[in-house]
Amino acid sequence: MSEETVDYGPLGALIGVWKGDKGTDVAPDPEGKEENPYYETMTFEGAGYAVNAEKQRLAAVRYHQEVRRKSDDAVFHDQTGYWMWDTENRQVFQSLTIPRAVCVLASGTAAYDAECDVLLSVEAGPEEVVQSPFMTDNAKTLSFRQTVTLTEDVMHYAETTMVDIYGKVFEHTDTNTLVREG
Ligand code: HEM
Repeated sequence: MSEETVDYGPLGALIGVWKGDKGTDVAPDPEGKEENPYYETMTFEGAGYAVNAEKQRLAAVRYHQEVRRKSDDAVFHDQTGYWMWDTENRQVFQSLTIPRAVCVLASGTAAYDAECDVLLSVEAGPEEVVQSPFMTDNAKTLSFRQTVTLTEDVMHYAETTMVDIYGKVFEHTDTNTLVREG
């Protein structure tokens, strides 16, 4: 990764440590669905440029998301990955990994202005999901989409993961509002 000064474009607004306690999770359950209020910490750090085939330059922001259920304070979702910004093509990518043996590469767009108000919008279809044979057979992720809005030190996200589980396709949703620390 290059050490030169990096232009993260709209992703620069993500960098920092964020906390939020207004999370709402709707997740699959054999009886139908479960709803879990949650709180979380998200950490974003600049990771420099990746240059591909000496042509494409991606500015990368590395992140970690740790989510705890309010009812028992247990970590019930852990996610890591990168947000990437292709300056030339003005395209955004999000790679994410969760320890259920599921990886997703979502892509999309960023709208942003000089005040650093940012709207990131990404999605992934079945071709952009890699998962273990067990998950393919029992709890298959079919698609993922997410929007993130940033206004100064407030972030809001809403994401939908379609999961084929317990004999039907379930709309698994998560949303939260976070504030940047410090
Ligand atoms: C804040 C974000 C998220 C939270 C809090 C969350 C939480 C949950 C919960 C509570 C379940 C029910 C099963 C269990 O109790 O372990 C579940 C299932 C599942 N989630 Fe998530 N999830 C999140 C995001 C995601 C994302 C981004 C993906 C994939 C792109 C994903 C994929 C799945 C899959 C495939 C299952 C089915 C596995 C099963 O229920 O046995 N989740 N999630």
